[in-house]
Amino acid sequence: MNDRFLSTQALEDEQSLEGSLRPQRLDEYIGQARMKESLRICIEAATRRGEALDHAIFYGPPGLGKTTISHIIAHEMGGSIRSTSGLVLAHAGDLAAILANLQPRDVLFIDEIHRLPPSVEEALYPAMEDFQIDLVIGQGPSMRTMKLDLPPFTLIGATTRAGSLTSPLRERFGLVYRLDFYSAEELQLIVTRSSGLLGVEIEPGAAAEIAGRSRGTPRIANRLIKRARDFAEVKAQGVLTREVARDALTWLGIDDAGFDEMDRKILLTIIEKFKGGPVGVEAIAAAVQEEKVTLEDVYEPFLIQSGYLDRTARGRQVTTRALDHFGKSGGLFSQPL
Ligand SMILES: Nc1ncnc2c1ncn2[C@@H]1O[C@H](COP(=O)(O)OP(=O)(O)O)[C@@H](O)[C@H]1O
Ligand SMILES: [Mg+2]
Repeated sequence: MNDRFLSTQALEDEQSLEGSLRPQRLDEYIGQARMKESLRICIEAATRRGEALDHAIFYGPPGLGKTTISHIIAHEMGGSIRSTSGLVLAHAGDLAAILANLQPRDVLFIDEIHRLPPSVEEALYPAMEDFQIDLVIGQGPSMRTMKLDLPPFTLIGATTRAGSLTSPLRERFGLVYRLDFYSAEELQLIVTRSSGLLGVEIEPGAAAEIAGRSRGTPRIANRLIKRARDFAEVKAQGVLTREVARDALTWLGIDDAGFDEMDRKILLTIIEKFKGGPVGVEAIAAAVQEEKVTLEDVYEPFLIQSGYLDRTARGRQVTTRALDHFGKSGGLFSQPL
């Protein structure tokens, strides 16, 4: 149950919720101030010149607003967005079909762009660089290639693993942005905004409570509002007070650090099984029965950023903060951390 609640991936029945809560304009997009400022200037400059915006890549943990900002860019550029993913684009021909249908200044959004097959990635290079693709026509001896001109468009890639991009692909993006976890204040604004859109009656204290336990992630914040509302309807005549929000979050298995079951399992495993570390990520993954990449892309970034886990040359190590959180300080380590 908790897996579902704190998962940073969008759940299937959430797609329409996400759509309805998604900000449409740059001004409504909360946080990520530096990225927004940079984009605002680039969008305005491109618009004045009547050109497409430079190709852009957004990277960072799931749920931080990569898809959202891509839609906003298309909107601000006055174009449409065509969305696909590195998992779906299996053949260069599929890519060509999409590219051939773009209008000037449209956005082609490729989610999980690090998963593109090499043949498709190579077909992207001339499209990005020269707005041209090589079409292969015919088969066998009559096979030939033909160059097709494309309208100027913007390729936007999103990825949780910037490190997995090949350098030829990475180098073809003029704009590269890393999304950061949101502060509690920013998340509170998001919670308040989303509650308004959903018609949820929420007190500021409750918004703060939910914001503080959303792992710095808007997607989780939005999901917790929905769950807390359900809870409030059944237990508290619908009004989300701080008290009710607190009870709802406890009921959902989220502790006061915003940790879910897996966060706790990871930290406690390192503390109890590996003496606090340092320990290799493979060993942790095996012990908690989770994929190594999921640990690295989804769980660790938040634990590291919030100061509970360190990534050292010799492996992962919990911090004194983590020990304090679990009441395990004192006596575990022979030398200070
Ligand atoms: N900066 C933001 N301001 C307001 N809401 C946001 C922001 N970023 C993300 N969201 C909300 O969080 C949800 C998940 O965002 P999304 O763009 O799908 O994340 P990602 O593509 O990085 O996984 C969206 O429904 C959106 O409403
Ligand atoms: Mg996305």
